[in-house]
Amino acid sequence: MPARSEGGRGAVPRHVAIIMDGNGRWAKRRLLPRTAGHRAGVTVLTPLLETAGRMGVEFLTLYAFSTENWIRPESEVNTLMELFLETARSKVPELNERGARLRFMGRREKLPAAVCEAIEEAERLTAHNDRLNVYIALNYGGRSEIVDAARRIVADGVPPEELDEATFGRYLYAPEAPEVDLVIRTSGELRVSNFLLWQIAYAEFYVTETLWPDFSPEEFVKAIEWFGTRSRRRGGV
Ligand code: IPE
Ligand code: IPE
Ligand code: MG
Repeated sequence: MPARSEGGRGAVPRHVAIIMDGNGRWAKRRLLPRTAGHRAGVTVLTPLLETAGRMGVEFLTLYAFSTENWIRPESEVNTLMELFLETARSKVPELNERGARLRFMGRREKLPAAVCEAIEEAERLTAHNDRLNVYIALNYGGRSEIVDAARRIVADGVPPEELDEATFGRYLYAPEAPEVDLVIRTSGELRVSNFLLWQIAYAEFYVTETLWPDFSPEEFVKAIEWFGTRSRRRGGV
């Protein structure tokens, strides 16, 4: 039998990372403001987490806001921040009851104080859960993460000859998470957009034209099943 995340023969990915993209286009098609798309996007989360847990996915990382997303109009950024707060209020207790552990990845200093407080509260409340590990990438950039790791390595005085991939990995935002097995991107863009640059070195990529607010549990299952057909050679034969 292949190891759980090695792909092939129906293997289930241990760590799935999702680029939740296409909210704006979803709204535009309906002649609605972009923020209506972001609101619709939130409704996808509960059924998705439920399905991921049921299928045996252990780690789920969701890209919610990038270090580049600050360049959007101020009103959209403000609405997104309010939406994170609202979502934390409405979903965190429910996730806690389902045994999910929530953690956040990204630079906190630029986030509004209320968002930081909600993050800390969610992490504290769910710290003892272990059914499904959910990471929310918020003000997250793959390059920032690598730079932040390098800064801490230098600050710790790690001798160059002791710095290897395993040591470097321990300085990332979520050192306890295994490497990503499957990346899902909605809305059809074939790019990484600064997501988890280090962790996706050998991830499989599933891109769907479906816009994020329309992403259904059935389509998530389809992506997981597709992963199960992949042969992960990792440079071998
Ligand atoms: C993804 O949807 C959500 C965030 C980046 C916050 P977009 O807002 O990027 O939607 P599109 O790509 O413009 O359709
Ligand atoms: C990536 O989507 C970021 C999130 C989904 C949070 P973007 O919409 O920001 O990425 P680009 O602009 O298409 O590269
Ligand atoms: Mg987008």
